[in-house]
Amino acid sequence: MYEISTKDLFLWIKDIKNTRQDIDDLYLLLDLLGGITKSDLLLLKINFKEKVYLKIDFHSLKKKWLDHTNLSKPIQYICGSTYWRNFKFELSTDVLIPRVETEQIVEIATKIIASEDKKIVFADLGTGSGSIAISLAAENKNWKGLATDIDINAINIAQRNHKLISSNLNINFYCGNWWQPLTHYAGMINLAISNPPYIPKNVYERLPSSVLDFEPKKALYGGEDGLFHIKQIISDAPKFLIKGGWLILENHFNQSKEIKNLLRGYGFDSLKTIKDTFGIGRFTIGRYK
Ligand SMILES: C[S@@+](CC[C@H](N)C(=O)[O-])C[C@H]1O[C@@H](n2cnc3c(N)ncnc32)[C@H](O)[C@@H]1O
Repeated sequence: MYEISTKDLFLWIKDIKNTRQDIDDLYLLLDLLGGITKSDLLLLKINFKEKVYLKIDFHSLKKKWLDHTNLSKPIQYICGSTYWRNFKFELSTDVLIPRVETEQIVEIATKIIASEDKKIVFADLGTGSGSIAISLAAENKNWKGLATDIDINAINIAQRNHKLISSNLNINFYCGNWWQPLTHYAGMINLAISNPPYIPKNVYERLPSSVLDFEPKKALYGGEDGLFHIKQIISDAPKFLIKGGWLILENHFNQSKEIKNLLRGYGFDSLKTIKDTFGIGRFTIGRYK
């Protein structure tokens, strides 16, 4: 641990606040790399102590902050980790930084199945860091998860997170195109969830450099209209879902209506758009008849 003066730490935080940079990013850096949470800081204000202990030296911490501000590199990639729902996930630039709005997908899935207490087989298509699959398996201990991703580096990170968080959780990881690695489970999957790449071309090209320069294109780019991958996932879903099985998709703010039409065409009913916490129609769900 590295001892520093509490006064110096608060002065540094104050300087950054004055430059109007995103202070939440600073708190995240302090937490993930420095080992000091926002509540620790509040407590220090109430119960002042001369010295405070950091997990890395103050100079290196300041340098990390400068890397973030000078290069627009997201704090989560600088720290190599982030918090999502109840867990800390390791990250690299091979995987998307799991977004706060996606957290709701775990609640939607759990609620849909809640009334049925039998064993559930679920698929997380495009698992990235493994955040959805790991959270779902952790919150539903009798469910079995199958997580796929096209990128072997993403699968390696998801497997590492699985090991770090709890290797007892029942999840298998597969590298391949959407459903393709799950042929053994054809007609056996009760629930499939996907947060696929859905950003349309014209939107993708205008994303901020913090996203464009660091986050993987294959995690975001959904082709000309953003629906390239969603169409593949929906068209193959009937081969893999049991009758009565659910598909939950995250989508761009204006895609839900078209996704419902696609789902209807492939034999789904109980179609619904679900709004995220910002009031955007972010999720589309349907049940395979
Ligand atoms: C938007 S990210 C979602 C990651 C994670 N599930 C989350 O919510 O944070 C989409 C993921 O789909 C993966 N992906 C892209 N194309 C794919 C494909 N053809 N088959 C399987 N996975 C794919 C990407 O590598 C990426 O990890």
